[in-house]
Amino acid sequence: MVSLKVNGTTHTVDADDDTPLLWAIRDNLGLTGTKFGCGVAQCGACTVFIDGQPLRACVTPVSAVGTGEITTIEGLAGKEADAVQAAWIARDVPQCGYCQSGQVMSAIALLKENRKPTDRDIDLAMNGNICRCATYVRIRAAIHDAARALEI
Ligand code: FES
Ligand code: FES
Repeated sequence: MVSLKVNGTTHTVDADDDTPLLWAIRDNLGLTGTKFGCGVAQCGACTVFIDGQPLRACVTPVSAVGTGEITTIEGLAGKEADAVQAAWIARDVPQCGYCQSGQVMSAIALLKENRKPTDRDIDLAMNGNICRCATYVRIRAAIHDAARALEI
């Protein structure tokens, strides 16, 4: 048994210590917005926040989380999250949508650190999030839109 605090609620999860956090989130807690893509920290589909920092849940054993507060796509809140989600909708960013929760998590993490990212900043920050549908141009535009919205 492992105790995990996810989106503000503490859960006792029936999982071995080496179970990837992604499985605990999806299979034990039913939070399926976080996706499995590669399983080896290469695609970004499984990105969640632990204590506000983005992390790949597919390669993070539940035992490594400790008392860290996990936030998944379902638990997003705050001005950066609102700005990114509004920009994503306005730009109609997703195509198939599979990678998009990871993209949104990484975009929010970027804007928390850098309120005025350049194209290069965006490309560097989003580099680990793969999109098979190649929505990169819309992702970049939406991040600029969200950054502008956060200035107001
Ligand atoms: S599923 Fe975790 S990075 Fe691809
Ligand atoms: S929208 Fe299809 S993989 Fe990114």
